[in-house]
Amino acid sequence: MALQLGDIAPDFESDSTEGRIKFHDFIGNGWAVLFSHPKDFTPVCTTELGEVARLKPEFERRGVKVIGLSVDPVTDHRRWAADIEETQGAALNFPLLGDPERKVSSLYDMIHPNANDTLTVRSVFIIGPDKKIKLIITYPASTGRNFDEVLRVIDSLQLTAKYQVATPVNWQRGDDVIIVPAVSDEDAKKKFPQGWKAVKPYLRIVKQPQ
Ligand code: BEZ
Repeated sequence: MALQLGDIAPDFESDSTEGRIKFHDFIGNGWAVLFSHPKDFTPVCTTELGEVARLKPEFERRGVKVIGLSVDPVTDHRRWAADIEETQGAALNFPLLGDPERKVSSLYDMIHPNANDTLTVRSVFIIGPDKKIKLIITYPASTGRNFDEVLRVIDSLQLTAKYQVATPVNWQRGDDVIIVPAVSDEDAKKKFPQGWKAVKPYLRIVKQPQ
């Protein structure tokens, strides 16, 4: 059965550009983003890897480790890394898994045979400190991902984990948030002593907790 939100992210051991990785050890007690690339030496992937390298401090600030996967061997990744640095102005600064036997990509359902039976689609998994999958998104090979959106979801997930608030449509960092329905008004009084605006009894808006 395909992986679903709330499932434990499957553990694996694999070679990467930064040596052998045991995935759960790599995640440690923090958050992780695992994302797949269809193939080495492809144009869209080259731009994505440069962008994630540039954004690495933003991921680190949120306690998130990033790790990529491409179905080619690590020896190819190393040659490709030189092109990424040359063309994107950012050197690969996080591990890129080699997966020539498609072990990890099969484990994570990253190959969608009716789209392409050998290359992976562009999958993104956000994994929490409890090793559970918090987000799965799948893009087609021809569409580069928006990693600002990945950061935005991480901000939302971390706010929910810490403060029991949810984020409304098109929310951006700093915008007002919503008290989750599971919190009663009585409990909300303790958690949000500054009060909230109840547009409806189930739609209670508060300033974003800091
Ligand atoms: C790319 O990364 O540029 C790409 C890969 C597979 C299909 C289309 C584009």
